Amino acid sequence: MSRGKFEGKVVVITGSARGQGKSHALGFAREGAEVVVNDVCRNASSVPYPLATERELDGTVEEIKKMGGRVLGIKADVGIEADAKRLVDTTIREFGHLDILINNAGIGNVSSIHEMSLGVWEETLRTNLTGVFLVSKHAVPHMIKRRWGRIISTASQLGLVGHPDLVHYCASKAGVIGFTKALALELAPHQITVNAVCPSVVDTMQASGMLKAYPEWAERVFSLTGPQYLFPDGDKLQPADITNAMLWLASDEAKHVTGIALQIDAGSLAK
Ligand SMILES: NC(=O)c1ccc[n+]([C@@H]2O[C@H](COP(=O)([O-])OP(=O)(O)OC[C@H]3O[C@@H](n4cnc5c(N)ncnc54)[C@H](O)[C@@H]3O)[C@@H](O)[C@H]2O)c1
Repeated sequence: MSRGKFEGKVVVITGSARGQGKSHALGFAREGAEVVVNDVCRNASSVPYPLATERELDGTVEEIKKMGGRVLGIKADVGIEADAKRLVDTTIREFGHLDILINNAGIGNVSSIHEMSLGVWEETLRTNLTGVFLVSKHAVPHMIKRRWGRIISTASQLGLVGHPDLVHYCASKAGVIGFTKALALELAPHQITVNAVCPSVVDTMQASGMLKAYPEWAERVFSLTGPQYLFPDGDKLQPADITNAMLWLASDEAKHVTGIALQIDAGSLAK
């Protein structure tokens, strides 16, 4: 494999068996990073579409191996502290260091507040927000040791604006943005940057699964959050569009960029 921008760097990408996370894993591998692919590989009770399978996790690992990259697949639930710790500890044992953390794992479902069980609220917050806290918590000491690090979390445009029937999802993603700003200040003295990305609808299983499971909600979603695809030909946001932002935020070119919530949304919140 040719030398890339991230030669010598180790990156952990949560929820990367498929979708945006897989695209990030392949993108970092292409740029020479050693990659840890993680996924829960188990369905979540509140989620109306299947989560990734072990087969998909193995498939992503195999694709990176075929590219000639060093890669490890680790099945772990980011919302469980013992799993988050094992994810980081195994990375350190196998690769010796951890430089870049991409907190990408996430779930979505739709419910009005009065019909939402505490279980649905907690599963969403545990995965989308507590998961970001737990993996970051265990990764940070290793970055501080090397006086360099990048933590980039996938929030959402729905962390910046509200949306009916998504109090849990919006709260979790707004939480990721608050977490990002606070941690950016805390870790700046250690030359670790902390940023979030805020995509609008991206062409993945989460989006298609939610739109299919809740057709009435789907009709309203685009009118409320604004035009999703302002570019010609209904050009949908693809995982690679988010990967490009991840690669930039992780690079030395973005060394002075920290504490931001970068919108990648074809201007849908600009009106
Ligand atoms: N698709 C969209 O429209 C959209 C828009 C904005 C933000 N996001 C966010 O982007 C991120 C990636 O989602 P995606 O669009 O690729 O959908 P996706 O469902 O294809 O990918 C999410 C991945 O996370 C994994 N995962 C779920 N819970 C996990 C857990 N507890 N531990 C480890 N892995 C877990 C899933 O198995 C899946 O592989 C999520 O945080 C999502 O909320 C998605």
